[in-house]
Amino acid sequence: MSAPARPPNSSQRTAAIDVNWVRAQFPSLKQIINGHPAAFLDAPAGTQVPQQVIDAFRDYFENSNANTCGAFATSRRTDAMIAGARRAMADFFNCEPAEVFFGPNMTTLTFALARGIGRDLQSGDEIVVTALDHDANVAPWRALEDRGVVIRQVDIHEEDCTLDMADFQRKITPRTKLVAVGYASNAVGTINPVREIIRLAHDAGALAFIDAVHYAPHGTIDVRELDCDFLACSPYKFFGPHMGCIYGKRELLMRFRPYKVRPAPEYLPDRWESGTQIHEGLAGVTASINYMAALGRKCDSSATTRRAALVSAHRAMRGHEMSLAAEMVRGLLAIPSLRFYGISDPSRFAERVPTVAVRLANRTPLECAKFLGDRGIFTWDGNYYALNLTERLGVEKTGGLLRIGLVHYNTAEEVSRLLAGLRELATPTAHAPSH
Ligand SMILES: Cc1ncc(COP(=O)(O)O)c(C=O)c1O
Repeated sequence: MSAPARPPNSSQRTAAIDVNWVRAQFPSLKQIINGHPAAFLDAPAGTQVPQQVIDAFRDYFENSNANTCGAFATSRRTDAMIAGARRAMADFFNCEPAEVFFGPNMTTLTFALARGIGRDLQSGDEIVVTALDHDANVAPWRALEDRGVVIRQVDIHEEDCTLDMADFQRKITPRTKLVAVGYASNAVGTINPVREIIRLAHDAGALAFIDAVHYAPHGTIDVRELDCDFLACSPYKFFGPHMGCIYGKRELLMRFRPYKVRPAPEYLPDRWESGTQIHEGLAGVTASINYMAALGRKCDSSATTRRAALVSAHRAMRGHEMSLAAEMVRGLLAIPSLRFYGISDPSRFAERVPTVAVRLANRTPLECAKFLGDRGIFTWDGNYYALNLTERLGVEKTGGLLRIGLVHYNTAEEVSRLLAGLRELATPTAHAPSH
């Protein structure tokens, strides 16, 4: 096996993860499908959850279930639990708890934020989006076209599915008010040069909104260091419950005006949270952060704070998953009828996460996903809402792409099974997939 691609901030201090310990934390990984152990290679659509997240739901309902700000015990516990979830996400982002607001998912929150920001935009103001992004970081900004806002879309380099940075520079103009870009592509795994993009946006006097939904399970996020203005992610992509959350700079969260009901608080971050939150989910968010922190401490006993433990966890997770990814990409490239989309050169793996997209010449992505699914190997077919990209690559009308996504609970054996399945499918005599 080749040496794992070293993450940008890798340290010798962090030990490799103990994948047996990891897998023992996730009860759902034990499932058997048609006699095969389930191989969850579908993480980009949502990860499995550790026992402590399941326990947090149960504990919330058993001991704290109430609405907020009431003058009795369970309501006070709920308030304390929500404050804890904000502190947990603040450690994850490296920001203040008041700068994190929650909601049902990233898409809903981004529409709400975009509508709030849009109130202060004028006709002719510009927003930059990209062809690489999930539509949740495109459609909310495009909705502002109704107000006369002009949307400019940055193109990609088709050969490796990276952003065309020269085009980026052209698309940012003196009228640009906001740049919306993903941290990593949920379709092809490219990590975008977000630091550079944020600098370009700021140089033009524009704000930078980063969609970190796909990056969050794979790398440390530091909003202070990035200096982004907003950053979104979804805890269900990093071992937590189905929820979304957004970081915003305090001053901006106060400056822009959310649409809200009159009695709802004006203070941060509550002014951006409409209606009752998913309390049990918030309890689960803290549990998922604490799970990763526990993993980080196992790999690095010198990590004293939760933030330090999360940084160690990401380092360890990335070492494991990129080592598997190197093996997987090598195996995929050896299948003659397979077309690989995105960065495949191992010397450039610092520019990608372990999410890959492929097509077989003789099978649609759906046929591949079904064939693998019948063998207990969970992958995804279609566009996964990265619609700009599948259209740009010319695959949208023929079923999109087959996506395989690894996280730290995946194993070398699962990768071998995937490769064997695809090799079998790629041979002309392969069993015809059922429809
Ligand atoms: C990169 C990316 N952005 C945004 C989203 C939307 O997130 P949510 O499902 O929380 O609305 C997804 C979901 O798959 C995603 O992968």
